[in-house]
Amino acid sequence: MSQYILALDQGTTSSRAILFDHDGRAVGTEQQEYRQIYPAPGQVEHNPADIWESQLTVAKRVLRRSRISAEQVAAIGITNQRETTLLWEKETGKPVGNAIVWQSRVSSGICQRLKEAGVGDRLREITGLLIDPYFSGTKLTWLFENVEGLRSRAERGEILFGTVDSYLIWKLTGGRKHVTDISNASRTLLFDIHQQEWSPEMLEMLNIPAAILPEVVDSSGLIAETDPEIFGKSIPIAGAAGDQQAATFGQICYEPGMAKNTYGTGCFMLMNIGSKPRLSENGLLTTIGWRINGQTTYCLEGAIFIAGAAIQWLRDGLEIIAHASESEAMATSVEDTHGVYFVPAFVGLGAPYWDAEARGLAIGLTRGTTKAHLVRAALESIAYQTRDVLDAMNRDSGIRLAELRVDGGATSNNFLMQFQADLLQTSVHRPVILETTAMGAAYLAGLGIGFWESQAELTKKWVIDQAFEPAMTSDEVDKLYRGWTRAVERSRGWES
Ligand code: G3P
Repeated sequence: MSQYILALDQGTTSSRAILFDHDGRAVGTEQQEYRQIYPAPGQVEHNPADIWESQLTVAKRVLRRSRISAEQVAAIGITNQRETTLLWEKETGKPVGNAIVWQSRVSSGICQRLKEAGVGDRLREITGLLIDPYFSGTKLTWLFENVEGLRSRAERGEILFGTVDSYLIWKLTGGRKHVTDISNASRTLLFDIHQQEWSPEMLEMLNIPAAILPEVVDSSGLIAETDPEIFGKSIPIAGAAGDQQAATFGQICYEPGMAKNTYGTGCFMLMNIGSKPRLSENGLLTTIGWRINGQTTYCLEGAIFIAGAAIQWLRDGLEIIAHASESEAMATSVEDTHGVYFVPAFVGLGAPYWDAEARGLAIGLTRGTTKAHLVRAALESIAYQTRDVLDAMNRDSGIRLAELRVDGGATSNNFLMQFQADLLQTSVHRPVILETTAMGAAYLAGLGIGFWESQAELTKKWVIDQAFEPAMTSDEVDKLYRGWTRAVERSRGWES
């Protein structure tokens, strides 16, 4: 009877379950979108029950539809939207309110306070991150300051905290395991990435009770066993990683200097920097990629908040396209943007600017501007933002990247990929399998139980679909990029 690995990919807008066979082929995929909750401008929440139920539904459905029994599942690998913050009662499992989603700016006041207190450098030294509402830590501080009675209950050990990996493992084990993988821990703002343990100094700085914290485990290896009630038999959970780290693993970026960029709601570029952390001088994050058998791999990360979401906005907000897939034909129906630049700073700007006050703009509009120019400018903005991050990465690492591996929904857009290669003056490599996030989680789980022997074996599974080579001259690119940097400057500091 063939054996499979089940990857659970709990993303920001949908939950997915994918079954992989030993060759690394996806033999079944199920996906379910779930509710986004916007309680106030700049705030985003998820109902924990929606997260769990949508994830469980797709996991069961993919087994049923693929006619694969629980006996045939050798292990489960989990990957997830990162930083999203959940609290629940230890005794009953009842969530304390909604999950605060990574995009939520609810803790911007707390971040302002931290900036004024001048703790930014120390915080960066310990965690590799910086002061921004993006990370879990200040979301927790906000919860403790705003939910009555929460602090004393937490101090009594009645409340548990977790990112989404942690919550799913807790649910899958029927409340038996309260753990988190190290890559997720490194996004909380509470984790010392050098000592690889929770930081008492950060807990004190953010005024968070240590009793809520999960145990930190490797990203690969036997993490837990599922409750037999759930799938009719217990299944080992043998891999877990944040989605961007899992994608880096799935893209086989195993050597220092290798990098991937995922084009989803946002864009996340990660570069493997090896076994020692190095802090960025150029607005990037230092984060833990994965830990396997106690061996840690660090990454530099550039997080761009709005990428594919800009195209969604053209569709749902402006209604100038009916389908995201139309954007390519529309962009190529014109020769260029006619001088238009679009900066999608809808929730401020992430790397390398970290400007919570920036807001979106379109500039260079004339009577000759058409919707095709705007659509093209929006697509180009994804590539420009990636260029901002890559420049920072080149400066930090001292490496001039020879090849960028790409994945995520928008990589099917050949116009975008070609423009990206032009702007970066670097080859852009799109693999055959674009499910690299789920793939990475499956690889971590498979390695964890010996389903696959070694990373060297996995390396052979990466197959290129298309390489996009730079076709523009560097003079042409410099001219275009100068316009972008001027547009970005104008978008900054708007919401002050
Ligand atoms: O840091 C946020 C990131 O993990 C979200 O990823 O793919 O769920 O939008 P995604």
